[in-house]
Amino acid sequence: MAAPLSTSEVLLIPKAFPSTESLEEVVQRYKKLRLHGLKVDPKSFSSTYSEESNFLPETWRSRVLNPMSKTFVAATDPDPGAQPNDTNFELIPETQFIGKDPHLVGLLRKEWVGIATLLGPIPLLASAVNEDNTTTKPWDAFIKDRKYNIPSGSPALEDVEGSHLVYLVVGMFISPEARRKGHASRLLEALIKEMREEASRHGTSKASITLQTEPGNDNAVRLYERLGFTVWDEALPMENMKGDISYMASLAKEFEFS
Ligand SMILES: CC(C)(COP(=O)(O)OP(=O)(O)OC[C@H]1O[C@@H](n2cnc3c(N)ncnc32)[C@H](O)[C@@H]1OP(=O)(O)O)[C@@H](O)C(=O)NCCC(=O)NCCS
Repeated sequence: MAAPLSTSEVLLIPKAFPSTESLEEVVQRYKKLRLHGLKVDPKSFSSTYSEESNFLPETWRSRVLNPMSKTFVAATDPDPGAQPNDTNFELIPETQFIGKDPHLVGLLRKEWVGIATLLGPIPLLASAVNEDNTTTKPWDAFIKDRKYNIPSGSPALEDVEGSHLVYLVVGMFISPEARRKGHASRLLEALIKEMREEASRHGTSKASITLQTEPGNDNAVRLYERLGFTVWDEALPMENMKGDISYMASLAKEFEFS
């Protein structure tokens, strides 16, 4: 039977920080949780621990600050009796470097138990067809030659009225000890709310959110299906960092705006 829901908050990592130290603190936490995920659940991700543990500090920083990404954190009140592990942090005293921004104080005074990133949006041409004559799918905006190809720079949100915007969810991870408490569901709900509000604010007629799961990750598929995603492609070929092909399940959920 599933454990009762724990009290948690879903918080968005900001793009602006009051000090270099506060940015670095957030980057360190992001890095730790991401590497923890790659270490404990290597089969759930197309990237690898050995690859990302060699990232330079500026790569981690640019992931956090990327204008095309919005990273949400599932945060809980810290357990005072918790043993130090890969992801928990010393409680930061309320010092100057956090500043008085209640959002940032909240983010840095809590335990991070989960994370997920929303990438996009990218406008998708409604009538576009691929080279092989198949209709464009939402994930085609993010995948090129069987690899993720995430545009950098700010999202192009001018002149998107009436268009179809697409978003991609990546890096969903909940610490093993915090699973089956609804954290991933709440993270996804926050991501969906964010994309719906953004798409509607820009007057688009349609928005889609898509994601891919590694072969055999049935728990993740169950989670996404419960939130209204459907499997559009059961075997989407994708090439990993080593050049091996794996056949991912590709899921999507669409929203129409009147
Ligand atoms: C998949 C994952 C994100 C789920 O996180 P979570 O916080 O435990 O998920 P939730 O508690 O919100 O679960 C929501 C529903 O998803 C399904 N689900 C999630 N984990 C499940 C599991 N281990 N077994 C069966 N169903 C599961 C259930 O239907 C669950 O509802 P229920 O608990 O009421 O039965 C987490 O197990 C994880 O981080 N796994 C490793 C990384 C990964 O696979 N990421 C996804 C990459 S696409």
